[in-house]
Amino acid sequence: MGHSDGARAGTADRPGMAVRPPADTAARPPADTAVRPPADAPLAAPAAAPLAALRWLGPPEGPAIELLDQTRLPAEETFLRCDSVPELVDAISRLVVRGAPLLGVAGAYGVALAAYRGEDVVAAAAAITAARPTAVNLSWGVSRALRSYQAAAAGSGPVPAGESGALAAVAEAQAIATQDAAASAAMAEHGLTLVPAGARILTHCNTGGLVSAGAGTAFAVILAAHRAGKLAQLWVDETRPLLQGARLTAWEAGRAGLPHALLSDSAAASLMAAGQVDLVLTGADRIAADGSVANKVGTYGLAVLAKHHSVPFVVVAPVSTVDLDAPDGASITVEHRPADEVTRIAGQPVAPAGTHAYNPAFDVTPPDLVTAIVTEEGVIQPVTPGNLRVLGTPANDIAGPQSAVYVER
Ligand code: MRU
Repeated sequence: MGHSDGARAGTADRPGMAVRPPADTAARPPADTAVRPPADAPLAAPAAAPLAALRWLGPPEGPAIELLDQTRLPAEETFLRCDSVPELVDAISRLVVRGAPLLGVAGAYGVALAAYRGEDVVAAAAAITAARPTAVNLSWGVSRALRSYQAAAAGSGPVPAGESGALAAVAEAQAIATQDAAASAAMAEHGLTLVPAGARILTHCNTGGLVSAGAGTAFAVILAAHRAGKLAQLWVDETRPLLQGARLTAWEAGRAGLPHALLSDSAAASLMAAGQVDLVLTGADRIAADGSVANKVGTYGLAVLAKHHSVPFVVVAPVSTVDLDAPDGASITVEHRPADEVTRIAGQPVAPAGTHAYNPAFDVTPPDLVTAIVTEEGVIQPVTPGNLRVLGTPANDIAGPQSAVYVER
């Protein structure tokens, strides 16, 4: 595993660090290997030049996965190279790469990495999946790549099984990234219909280009609203304990030129009470069959507040985040993380040594608090088990009371 610093070209400040030009100007392979918004996606591309959050390096440069190290943003645009599955698992666990859609892409490339290295691909898939249990996109992406690998390896004919399997896994990972970019653009369009003119939108955690091959999930809608002249103000929750809002969303909002302000999570209540929020938009890490939404801890509190203040609470997530095998919120595994993420801020202790902490990374919002779920397939409103099951169903084959579903296709 190695770091390369994209922001300080020409200064190798750590032994073993490769140095490269700034991320935006770095020589890159064709776009199909880099996870970035397509140049011609009108709603998906950020105003600032896109930053590739993940890049697959095939032989001879690799095999390896290069990640924009999100633990170092916004101070440094540093890239981390993972040459092995344990390195990737470590990067996923430490949130170097994070956010549901991008975890799906990273997991799929992880399977390809194991296949290229001639390793036990099934064991590698299990290790990657276990790195973070809540975001269903991770196991979904891993499973897709594993199935492709196994199918190709089984029917490889004269081509060595490992080689054709590895190529198939890479192709599947690239397909997942391409589909994610398209889903992001479609969610932006669907979500825009729910944004009122002059909207003051509150968001939580980070849901932009850093977590997606496109412009993201909730952030893609916010960006579309800005481009459509509908965004008056973006309120960015700082998102304790790891500050994805302060470090990452504020950074993305600044790059895209959005009018925005940062608030501590606990200020959201008085902000809503003051009538300063017209809409809450968040992403999701797993949506159960009953419409329960697991997302970054703090989301549930926002949904309760939104209900109390009659503010629409809208979740934006691709269909790959919907887990119809999870019947309800109680069946979703919530990841608990180390205490020092709470007892420290940016590495500095803020609590007495030895203080115990409660640190769930996510919480679960029940469906009755969710006004709508925006997916690439359309808008689910109201959020009911029947309406969720419509996802993935051909438009002319929807059973049940369609009047209950507002689905734009
Ligand atoms: O722990 P993280 O930073 O991976 O959590 C990310 C979130 O909770 C996002 O809101 C979620 O993945 C949806 S965004 C695409």
